[in-house]
Amino acid sequence: MHPENNSNYKPIGVFDSGFGGLTVLKEIVRELPDYDYLYLGDNARAPYGNRSFHSVYEFTLQSVKMLFDKGCHLVILACNTASANALRAIQHKDLPHIDPSRRVLGVIRPTAEMVGNMSKSKHIGVLGTSATVDSHTYPIEIKRFFPAIKVYQRACPIWVPLVENNEIESEGADYFIKNDIEQLLLQSDKIDTIILACTHYPLLLHKIKKYLPKNIRLLSQGEIVARSLADYLQRHPEIETNCSKGKTINFFTTDTTEIFDKSAELFFGQSVHSRHLKF
Ligand code: DGL
Repeated sequence: MHPENNSNYKPIGVFDSGFGGLTVLKEIVRELPDYDYLYLGDNARAPYGNRSFHSVYEFTLQSVKMLFDKGCHLVILACNTASANALRAIQHKDLPHIDPSRRVLGVIRPTAEMVGNMSKSKHIGVLGTSATVDSHTYPIEIKRFFPAIKVYQRACPIWVPLVENNEIESEGADYFIKNDIEQLLLQSDKIDTIILACTHYPLLLHKIKKYLPKNIRLLSQGEIVARSLADYLQRHPEIETNCSKGKTINFFTTDTTEIFDKSAELFFGQSVHSRHLKF
């Protein structure tokens, strides 16, 4: 019997446009191993990063509803593009109608809350998809917590396709990574901390480090989001009691399972057996 048929099954939903959210799920499971998890990758429509605000919102809302239908009371948007373009509308406009007792959280706020304590120069760089950068969510959220901080952004529209197409080790990857980092750093020589504001980017870490001056600190989100979720569950027992503890991890993809399982292992660090999901 699939756990979804059991009414006590209330997994924590983790959503991404594709594979990137698996880098976050991996850290969440490490930090909070007792819960049930349900991962949904909308691989058939990924990448989201070059899409319009409206499309990202519509696709994300559809995915959140699907995770609610499968028993999730708490959903983490483990995708910066979805967090930047859809989270606020879902929280304020949609959730009150769908079910005010359920929660949807993103990855940007926990990162913004942390970053100001890490930068000495108070000049921070953000590398993300075009949709994340164009939304200006990072500068807005960081200013909310740390008004004195200056935020510089650079959209890297080729980085996700490099990862999704398994071109990480290619010379092309070096060209784009080097160029995008240089363009970001040209905006200010005081940048001492860079946020990898896309959950796909940890896969490019070794190449990013190759082109980044050693004195600049890199922040990837998996651990930050995992620690913030642990803290959130402690502060919100009414939500925590709606997260079941059966230690299961189930994976769904909107694309074919063969394609998903093959690449997912790279992001998750363990073999993955997904099921297909159709909207
Ligand atoms: N992983 C997503 C993020 O964190 C982006 C991938 C995409 O472009 O779909 O922004």
